[in-house]
Amino acid sequence: MNKLLIKGGRPLDGTVQVSGAKNAALPIMCAALLTDGRLDLTNVPKLMDVATMAKLLGQMGVGIDRDGGGRMTLQADAISEPVAPYELVRTMRASILVLGPLVARCGRAKVSLPGGCAIGQRPVDQHLKGLAAMGVRLSVDHGYIHAEASRLVGARIVMDMVTVTGTENLMMAAALAEGTTVLENAAREPEVVDLANCLIAMGAKIEGAGTDLIRIEGVAALSGAVHPVMPDRIETGTYLAAAAASGGRIKLTGAAPGTLDATLGKFREAGARIHCGGDTIELEMAGRPSAVDLRTAPYPGFATDMQAQFMAVDAVALGTSVITENIFENRFMHVLELQRLGADISIQGNTAVVRGVEKLQGATVMATDLRASASLVIAGLVAEGETVIDRIYHLDRGYESLEQKLAGLGAHVQRLA
Ligand code: UD1
Repeated sequence: MNKLLIKGGRPLDGTVQVSGAKNAALPIMCAALLTDGRLDLTNVPKLMDVATMAKLLGQMGVGIDRDGGGRMTLQADAISEPVAPYELVRTMRASILVLGPLVARCGRAKVSLPGGCAIGQRPVDQHLKGLAAMGVRLSVDHGYIHAEASRLVGARIVMDMVTVTGTENLMMAAALAEGTTVLENAAREPEVVDLANCLIAMGAKIEGAGTDLIRIEGVAALSGAVHPVMPDRIETGTYLAAAAASGGRIKLTGAAPGTLDATLGKFREAGARIHCGGDTIELEMAGRPSAVDLRTAPYPGFATDMQAQFMAVDAVALGTSVITENIFENRFMHVLELQRLGADISIQGNTAVVRGVEKLQGATVMATDLRASASLVIAGLVAEGETVIDRIYHLDRGYESLEQKLAGLGAHVQRLA
């Protein structure tokens, strides 16, 4: 099992090119199921989750080609088997994103229930409620969702809570439904907007993506399109956090600063100097950051996917901070591992109190989920001595060329077989 060896204790300094967004690429790849036309994507990140999605779509008969440079073409001439098996869904919850497109295109789908995961229960009831409102007959047996419909019909759907993949699944299904669908309390995440833009390029009629009310007028068929995947705002924030925690300097290129307002605001509060250009972000942190409180919330609030990384910054900050996790009930898995590195953190329910320490010390720690792993990398980069992070396959799910990018910032990071 691969491990990462980090020799920490030095400020990061340099430039990093941001990759395409994992959480935009995955739903956009699923949009290929909605048409027999060719979907031509650029800026697709090379990640384990993208490979898993390609495998899942490939098993259904989608033809997929990719080059080494982020270009991917997908063509679903015919869908042989509208089935998402447990073995793949288990490794990647985002597989649920095939449900809406499959039932809209094929009139039937069989998709494994995702089950629990490290960061909480994560049910899919809102996905199912929305599809049922569009006339899909649903049943669950032997761990599989069975969906059937002749043609979906537009509906007004009020979501009980803000769900990102739920909004995306229903938006894709509604694109081919008969009549108009209105999604209320929709997720406003930039990745939802990126998917909507791709669907619009394919001929879908969608208004309001990026607001909490999305209106989709169904069309009879969609066509192929060319679409660049948006930059990854969580990867961007992770490198900013690494630079901030280490008292360093970083320039990110190929970024989308407009999607990071809440995160950038918190880094400013922590004392960083930040300068944004059209697609660049520069951050400089002189000395230790100041402790900053934060509460996670749906976009445009502070992203739950940045909570663990920011906790690593607060762990070495001047002062005490309070971090409240409002999206997932079990998303403090990194705390025990950060404590092994010398962090002073206590948890009460969904709140963590982080007392900043001057120094962390290297140790062996274990990655538990994708963003928790990223927080351990950041902590390892600022810790004195050597940190070994075990189970780094989690990182490979969501960070492209992590070691190379960190090496470009002067970090000593090495993968151990
Ligand atoms: C997406 C992101 C993930 C991010 C999360 C929150 C992708 C592929 N993944 O996950 O990285 O951490 O948004 O920003 O884009 N919920 C229900 N019922 C549902 C759906 C969700 O109760 O049917 C709850 C969840 O348990 C959670 C909250 O709603 O408490 C938000 O989850 P959701 O936005 O759906 O997360 P994902 O879309 O799975």
